[in-house]
Amino acid sequence: MKIGIIGSGNMGSALAKRIALAGHDVLLTAKDRAKAEAVASGIGPTVRVVAAGDVARDADIVIAATPAGSQAEALRSAGDLNGKTVIDIANPLKPDMSGLSVGYTTSFAEELAKTLPTARIVKAFNTTFAQVLSEGADFGGDVRAAVFYAGDDDKAKKAVHALIESMGFDAIDAGPLSHARYLEPMGMLNIWLGYMAKRGTGIAPTWLVRRHKAASKRAA
Ligand SMILES: NC(=O)c1ccc[n+]([C@@H]2O[C@H](COP(=O)([O-])OP(=O)(O)OC[C@H]3O[C@@H](n4cnc5c(N)ncnc54)[C@H](OP(=O)(O)O)[C@@H]3O)[C@@H](O)[C@H]2O)c1
Repeated sequence: MKIGIIGSGNMGSALAKRIALAGHDVLLTAKDRAKAEAVASGIGPTVRVVAAGDVARDADIVIAATPAGSQAEALRSAGDLNGKTVIDIANPLKPDMSGLSVGYTTSFAEELAKTLPTARIVKAFNTTFAQVLSEGADFGGDVRAAVFYAGDDDKAKKAVHALIESMGFDAIDAGPLSHARYLEPMGMLNIWLGYMAKRGTGIAPTWLVRRHKAASKRAA
């Protein structure tokens, strides 16, 4: 796949690395082209820096890796998003990081979808720290980190599911876009655990499923 990424900060660069390692082509754009060039050259030739207006045209999926407040503007500058799958990764934090600025009767993702009605918005990656993306999904043993995604468009969700799995993460369908109302607080809890509770950013939420009969019997 061809994946367009807007922003070359913590998430933009970690996503570019993991997506390139998964064998996809990355079209990277950022306000600061030199920064994007440095990120791209640190990863390899499958990450290409392009002008903002050229991101959407060739990309199968566009990821907005900018702060929540810049998301709509950044996406509008990416070219024609009509029918395009767009991943919103934002955690809409209050400026002092004490909580979310949006919720719980709506979500940042739903509000973004209202401003970009022709794009197919999927919420994903907001519960995944950049460090986890950069280091990979493997947490040892059988445990791999999950990436939750929510959206209303089946075709877009299938593409996002395939992208997440190709990156090595456990892709978990969290339902319709309105369930971003649950994913965004989950992202906030992850941030609280990582920063305020000082567990660090090498943590990730996941959803365990008991698969082995032997394990069920032992527990009984
Ligand atoms: N960090 C994490 O672990 C993490 C985890 C999950 C979700 N998220 C979410 O991911 C998003 C990005 O977070 P981050 O930590 O990567 O932030 P960051 O390191 O500050 O990077 C943000 C990037 O967005 C760029 N940018 C800002 N406005 C832009 C615009 N209008 N057009 C193009 N690029 C623009 C910035 O460029 P300049 O530097 O040139 O201003 C910067 O490269 C946020 O919404 C955050 O909530 C972050």
